[in-house]
Amino acid sequence: MSSCQHSALCILVVLMCLLCTLCPASSQSVKTGFIRDEVLLPCVYSEKLSEPVTAFWRDKDDKVVLDIINSREDKIDAKFTGRVLSFPDYYKNGNLSILIKDLRADDAGLYECYIPKVDYQAKMTLNVTEKPTSHGATVTSSSHHLVLLSAPLFVLFCSLK
Ligand SMILES: *[C@@H]1O[C@H](CO)[C@@H](O)[C@H](O)[C@H]1NC(C)=O
Ligand SMILES: *[C@@H]1O[C@H](CO)[C@@H](O)[C@H](O)[C@H]1NC(C)=O
Repeated sequence: MSSCQHSALCILVVLMCLLCTLCPASSQSVKTGFIRDEVLLPCVYSEKLSEPVTAFWRDKDDKVVLDIINSREDKIDAKFTGRVLSFPDYYKNGNLSILIKDLRADDAGLYECYIPKVDYQAKMTLNVTEKPTSHGATVTSSSHHLVLLSAPLFVLFCSLK
């Protein structure tokens, strides 16, 4: 019984390590979008924000991707006009994510979101590629692996309790 628990513990540790090495890779802030498609760039502060909310989105050339000032969409550079959406209903929850539509190759690069009130900054790199053909299969299969890995982890965790 105790040796069984030990091996279960070992498997648990191995799985944890595996998950830990996988997790940073997926949250490593590189976002991939496809040309003419849309992509959500996340900027989420962990706590609620008192209104009105102000946040600044900039790109690699320091262009104004979007200025949210006093909880309203304010300035947008001509490059992004009509292509950037934010989610005003979620501002107060700390969610100042934006959606960039109709992606172009020259949208690729660094993006930065800054919330001055709480001195929070999120940086990410956007990678814009052509729509995948066979490449897409590897992406979905790796996320399936994650699901397959977390199932036994959950079972093990429960059986150890
Ligand atoms: C932030 O809002 C966007 C748009 O509604 C949503 O897709 C995203 O999941 C939200 N992020 C969090 C962490 O709630
Ligand atoms: C962007 O995508 C291309 C094609 O999938 C890949 O070769 C490249 O390494 C990616 N760049 C980053 C920064 O992820």
